[in-house]
Amino acid sequence: MEPLRRFLPLLFLLVAVVSYDHGAVLAADEFTYNGFGGAELTLDGIWPGTRSTRPPPDPIRLRSTPGGAVRSFSCAFVFAIVSNFTVLSDNGMAFVVAPATRLSTFNAGQYLGILNVTDNGASSNRVLFVELDTMLNPEFQDMNSNHLGVNVNSMRSLYNHTAGYYDDATGGTFNNLSLISRQPMRVWVDYDGATTRLDVTMAPLDVATKPRKPLISAPVNLSGVVDDTAFVGFSAATGVIYTRHYVLGWSFAMDGAPAPPLDASGLPKLPRFGPKPRSKVLEIVLPIATASFVLALVVVVFLLVRRRIRYAEVREDWEAEFGPHRFSYKELYHATKGFKNKQLLGTGGFGRVYKGVLKNKSNLEIAVKRVSHDSKQGMKEFIAEVVSIGHLRHRNLVQLLGYCRRKGELLLVYDYMSNGSLDKYLYDKATNPSVLHWEQRFQIIKGVAAGLLYLHEDWEQVVVHRDVKASNVLLDAEMNARLGDFGLARLYDHGVDPQTTHVVGTMGYLAPELVRTGKATPVTDVFAFGVFVLEVACGRRPLGCVAPDDQNVLLDWVQEYDRKGAALDAVDARLCGKYDADEARLVIRLGLMCAHPLPDARPGMRQVVQYLDGDAPMPEVPPTYVSYTMLALMHNDGFDSFAMSYPSTATSGVSPVSGAFSDVSGLSGGR
Ligand SMILES: *[C@@H]1O[C@H](CO)[C@@H](O)[C@H](O)[C@H]1NC(C)=O
Ligand SMILES: *[C@@H]1O[C@H](CO)[C@@H](O)[C@H](O)[C@H]1NC(C)=O
Ligand SMILES: *[C@@H]1O[C@H](CO)[C@@H](O)[C@H](O)[C@H]1NC(C)=O
Ligand SMILES: *[C@@H]1O[C@H](CO)[C@@H](O)[C@H](O)[C@H]1NC(C)=O
Ligand SMILES: *[C@@H]1O[C@H](CO)[C@@H](O)[C@H](O)[C@H]1NC(C)=O
Repeated sequence: MEPLRRFLPLLFLLVAVVSYDHGAVLAADEFTYNGFGGAELTLDGIWPGTRSTRPPPDPIRLRSTPGGAVRSFSCAFVFAIVSNFTVLSDNGMAFVVAPATRLSTFNAGQYLGILNVTDNGASSNRVLFVELDTMLNPEFQDMNSNHLGVNVNSMRSLYNHTAGYYDDATGGTFNNLSLISRQPMRVWVDYDGATTRLDVTMAPLDVATKPRKPLISAPVNLSGVVDDTAFVGFSAATGVIYTRHYVLGWSFAMDGAPAPPLDASGLPKLPRFGPKPRSKVLEIVLPIATASFVLALVVVVFLLVRRRIRYAEVREDWEAEFGPHRFSYKELYHATKGFKNKQLLGTGGFGRVYKGVLKNKSNLEIAVKRVSHDSKQGMKEFIAEVVSIGHLRHRNLVQLLGYCRRKGELLLVYDYMSNGSLDKYLYDKATNPSVLHWEQRFQIIKGVAAGLLYLHEDWEQVVVHRDVKASNVLLDAEMNARLGDFGLARLYDHGVDPQTTHVVGTMGYLAPELVRTGKATPVTDVFAFGVFVLEVACGRRPLGCVAPDDQNVLLDWVQEYDRKGAALDAVDARLCGKYDADEARLVIRLGLMCAHPLPDARPGMRQVVQYLDGDAPMPEVPPTYVSYTMLALMHNDGFDSFAMSYPSTATSGVSPVSGAFSDVSGLSGGR
């Protein structure tokens, strides 16, 4: 009975006669059902799935005195007829005043459940009904399939009118209404006992006040028709299931009082009809929604995949212990704005270097070096070294902050050096028009010497730099020299064919014995340092077009000046003679001593620092009469005895140092 709570759906072969308890309600002389929630209604006939179990209600007393005139009454209701087809309906429905509620013996179909074939038209029926007829039945002389009729005892109407209303708003013009329009509509049935006149009025739901002109105003003397008591209610009876009749609200009053108005907003809503509106929604919205969903999914997947690819890293179990030194690629990617070219600081021997800012580490400025490296072998050892190098701390070393690994690539994160690399100041006149003055150059040489000493002797392991040169010397904000890229050359020792020895370093800085044996030692670093010192003092590159006089090797060029006792003539002409002559002489001789082709003739870094600081006197190196290049060639060809023609005093301080390191090969020797 669930639908009853809200409205009265009058379904097929249904006869619903609704009454009220006259004892209780007559005192008020009226009732109102704005919807039927909680209403005490009696349902008669065949109700789908159920039957009323309530006892028959008491009928309404229609006459004040038995046999007297029928009292006036007024009734208003809101109905709707919902057919599956907009142009076709089953039989209609009716407002009924009848002597009995046991209507199940009456016929359905065109008899609306009120009468049957045999008793149709008999005055013994004692029934009045107002039909809302939606079917043209010729046997009852119906005028059309959309009319209202006033009927007494017979299916044949006494009076009829096409469904519609006289609109007061437009001065009383007639407007058609379709009974099967699925729209709720109002009907008023008013009986005046004094004038024996029955008025039937109709209006759409939104016309709340009864139109002044009724649809039908007929003289009907009910005194001769109905009994003293009768039941009032609604009836509908359909043979097929494609039409449903609804009564949404109903009010009733006696003795001339108008039926209480029904509030449209308080009425129950009709159940949504059919799947049509939904199918429209599905037809339009569903494909769009599906397409949007699929598109969104594709975009999300694409973004996820791109993100995965973009931020992909190589991370292995053994790296766990290096955790704190490990940067995520994503972090570096964002720090360098996606490794944009704008962030490129330079392209070094091992790869490109980008500037970055670590937002989450109080905007720390970093330099990220991308080293392409395919070998997996030896990576573990190398990373261990990188991390241990990360523990090196010296004011003349560029601090290594950590690393990150990707497929075929290693990223090293360093402190950012705001003044860039030294070589730019020495040669690149386009970007650095100002010439480094002598004090700066001397400080830089001393700084690099201090950094190298730390690597070679003052740290717990011996670290061979392998690539000392001007472009690996960086200048911080205070123009302090800081040695960068140390230990990186080791990467190229690992994982490659152990049979082949790769000489790593830069042409012009390679000690002769390094070229021969491929073995980097602190002493080969000292050689490179020597070349570097001359480079800084003379402002010339170590190789190629050193000077106009056909000299291609800086070392030999300087050596020649030195031999002629005019070492100071080799000093950078751009200084315009503004330099400390003693310091310059010291520097040139130190450079020549460090870059000596014979390893035993080179000093150790500790001595170098002492010479530079003036803590120990520079030993005199007697000039060789063969050029360094020749000497190196002879040395490498086994003419050592010939070459060792210089006094042993020069080597006395050096040989123990180089001897001590003769077994050291990079960092691994320290372990
Ligand atoms: C018609 O209705 C009357 C009561 O009004 C009943 O006695 C009669 O049996 C019904 N006839 C049919 C055919 O159902
Ligand atoms: C029904 O209405 C039509 C048209 O107004 C009219 O011709 C006919 O006489 C009416 N029938 C009855 C029974 O009133
Ligand atoms: C109203 O309905 C009748 C009968 O169906 C039709 O003849 C008439 O043209 C309609 N009038 C309007 C204004 O729709
Ligand atoms: C109505 O009919 C009753 C008898 O059936 C009669 O007494 C009464 O005078 C009639 N009233 C009118 C107004 O014709
Ligand atoms: C009419 O529509 C209702 C509700 O959509 C549906 O349940 C019923 O099967 C339909 N009946 C016919 C005859 O199409």
